Amino acid sequence: MNNPNIATRKKRPPDNAYIQELEADLAALREKAESFESLVMDSPIGVYRTTPDGHILMANQALAEMMGYETVEELKKRNVTEHGYAVEHYRDLFKKEIEEKGSVRGFESLWRRKDGSIMFIREYGRVVRDSAGKVLYYEGTIEDISDRVKTETLLKESIRQINRTFNELVETLSEAMNFRDPYTADHEKRVAALSQALVLEMGHSEGFANILRTAALLHDIGKIYVPAELLSRPGTLRREELELLKMHAEAGWEILKNVSFDQPIAEIVHQHHEKLDGSGYPQGLKGPEIMLEARILSVADIVEAHSSHRPYRPAVPIEEVLTDVEAMATAGKLDADVVAACTRLFREKGFVFP
Ligand SMILES: [Fe+2]
Repeated sequence: MNNPNIATRKKRPPDNAYIQELEADLAALREKAESFESLVMDSPIGVYRTTPDGHILMANQALAEMMGYETVEELKKRNVTEHGYAVEHYRDLFKKEIEEKGSVRGFESLWRRKDGSIMFIREYGRVVRDSAGKVLYYEGTIEDISDRVKTETLLKESIRQINRTFNELVETLSEAMNFRDPYTADHEKRVAALSQALVLEMGHSEGFANILRTAALLHDIGKIYVPAELLSRPGTLRREELELLKMHAEAGWEILKNVSFDQPIAEIVHQHHEKLDGSGYPQGLKGPEIMLEARILSVADIVEAHSSHRPYRPAVPIEEVLTDVEAMATAGKLDADVVAACTRLFREKGFVFP
């Protein structure tokens, strides 16, 4: 009774006018209650009230239909614990949470419909206790989120598919170099493996390792502009031939810069022949101007290239290559941390190229 006049009225004798006023108040309250009831009963979201052991005290038509029952009466014959939760564990979790916290907000679980099919639901609820703190019932709302979960699952699958296609495209592009220079394609694969291992050895994430993998698989793609006979010709290259070969870093950047990678792959490729002391190419970048990704790729590139056979020179033993890159780090050309990680991989962790 929220009516402020009621206290005043109680002092009046119970005459007819008084009784009429009381009846009018009662009618107004009944109307209010009915309007709340119809709000709940006609709500498109499922509304319920259950005992802690799962007996349904109240439910609306939306909940009955959501669960696959024609009427609320039919639904009320079922016990939520036995016929609602598809996995018993969820009911236990729900009871624990609602009784400990007094309410649940956005509790997600699996429910079983009348026909046995499963639906994903989201629940908001609260516990109602008596004055002694004993639980009387739970009440709240239930929303069928199966469509949302289905959409999310499809979206995740699409993203997985796009990533798969992307990786296959990168590998195919890298493989395509095989037609021009068999050394380049295998070189890129092996550099990719070492780059990824270096990233992880340096304590960076799998995601970072994947960026390096993509960049490494494509790092020599610019060699497509270099005449094939120059790539595999035995003997030392003339100065102008060497300058032509060096163009591949810039050419690789040109090819990749318009691809909307979500990582700076083109820039890593552009910088993979830069040296910390500024003696590299094509831009002559120095120290911090060179991205960490490019410093890692650079070490992996040198180690793989030098330790592999080429038509113009035999393979250099790995220990000799490691000594060389250590000297290059001391001379301020290569990143000392990357080189240290590289020597650890080969000398202590038994890294071998695939
Ligand atoms: Fe290169």
